[in-house]
Amino acid sequence: MDWGMKNRLSRLIQPDGKALFLPVDHGYFQGPTHMLEKPGETIKPLIPYADAIMLTRGVLRNCVDPAIPKPIILRVSGAATVVGEDLANENLVTSVQEILRLNAMAVSMSVFVGSKYEHQSLSNLAKLVDACEDYGVPVMAVTAVGRELEKREARYLALCCRVAAEIGARVVKTYYCAEKFEKVVDGCPVPVVIAGGPKVDTQREVFDFVYDGMQKGAVGVNLGRNIWQTEHPVAAIQAIRAIIHENYTPNEAEDLFEQIKAGKA
Ligand code: 5RP
Repeated sequence: MDWGMKNRLSRLIQPDGKALFLPVDHGYFQGPTHMLEKPGETIKPLIPYADAIMLTRGVLRNCVDPAIPKPIILRVSGAATVVGEDLANENLVTSVQEILRLNAMAVSMSVFVGSKYEHQSLSNLAKLVDACEDYGVPVMAVTAVGRELEKREARYLALCCRVAAEIGARVVKTYYCAEKFEKVVDGCPVPVVIAGGPKVDTQREVFDFVYDGMQKGAVGVNLGRNIWQTEHPVAAIQAIRAIIHENYTPNEAEDLFEQIKAGKA
């Protein structure tokens, strides 16, 4: 692996081999998402606890201080929305020159395996990998399931992750599934990070699935709504960080969460 690629990956995946990515890219397909109406304000208190921030060039340019101390993962696929014909009908929407100009540490794009647009999104992944590898920029494939959340089962997720890695993604983001998540990770030759999906009912559920996913081999999370849509995002991200980087159990994370909420930690 070239020095530039290694250097960028080492800024994202920390020396302990783990990572907490904070995505705030949701506006690219669903507009001003709840709690992300002003993304710059949403991320400000969370930045110290994230290892990287994932967002689009528009939000980066307009809402984020260029002196931000954390690396950027630039979302570079889009051009489909929740009110359009099909969310899977995406294309690449950002050039390599722009990726370099914005000093992105990595790029991310969605792949819609099993959708009508499977071939298009996988071909776009291949094009992006070819273009980015020339400059040592890692590509993170976001294995997306669109509206069909019932597809979140190990056999399907394992297939998506493996295909994305075979095409050349350096990191793969997938959803967690309660059963056989280890099969998803074990079948993927590159690091896997877990997305959260829509906000779940309790903070404890998040601690449980992050912990279980890490035990089963994920290197970390790419977790958005289950942090910044919660009532206590700063406490939530610190507790999740403790699971990822300090091997906290869900019970320990919950204690920490309560202490931070109460102003005792
Ligand atoms: C949205 C994304 C998000 O980065 C990904 O879904 C993670 O966010 P969340 O935890 O809110 O699901 O790719 O397109």
